[in-house]
Amino acid sequence: SRFKLDTMAIVSPSILSSNFAYLQKDIEMLNESEADWFHIDVMDGVFVPNISFGFPILHSIRNIVKKPLDVHLMIVNPERYVERFRDAGASIITVHYEACADLKRTIDLIHSCGVKAGVSINPETPTAVLREILPCVDLVLIMSVHPGFGGQKFIEDSLQKICEVKRMISEENLSCLIEVDGGIGLGNVEKVVRAGADAVVAGAAVFSAESPESVIRDMKKL
Ligand code: DX5
Ligand code: ZN
Repeated sequence: SRFKLDTMAIVSPSILSSNFAYLQKDIEMLNESEADWFHIDVMDGVFVPNISFGFPILHSIRNIVKKPLDVHLMIVNPERYVERFRDAGASIITVHYEACADLKRTIDLIHSCGVKAGVSINPETPTAVLREILPCVDLVLIMSVHPGFGGQKFIEDSLQKICEVKRMISEENLSCLIEVDGGIGLGNVEKVVRAGADAVVAGAAVFSAESPESVIRDMKKL
């Protein structure tokens, strides 16, 4: 079930940092760029102290987006909405370990909807909690900032966590991907990938740049 096609890192720009008044323009820019996925940050104001966007935005963009939607659910009890995110066009649905009453059941539900399933852990959550679920997921999303806002500083301890998950995956001979989210830009993407990341999310680094396309290109060119 490995869905990474080459040795280059997958780059998944987060549209959270886009200017929503010009969302179509930013989507077209990402379509033309070397970005691999679109990272979609959904926040409920309960799991995280912020509210982002939900189904109406996804339905409006799904027909113009030409790449997989990598949906990151920062919401409590995400199992309630898995089907609707599938219907809204998600290719990957990632839920938080901390937000699920029954994680295995939620992952199975995502798979039964025909979507790739990811599990995410917050910066303060140890990687050991992943051991049991690892064989069942397609992706592990390691948060390298406290979820809720774009534009925060990368937490350096995340590098160690990437290495730990990488080791768990190779020890068990598994095929799931490691994605890292928060505070990643041209200054640190190389060490994140060297630590073992297969995919990186970038919000502020892409959208606050004068040339977002060249930041994306440079992030892939390692
Ligand atoms: C944080 C989100 C991230 C964030 C990434 O809650 O999950 O995806 O928007 O943005 P940057 O790259 O600006 O940290
Ligand atoms: Zn995210």
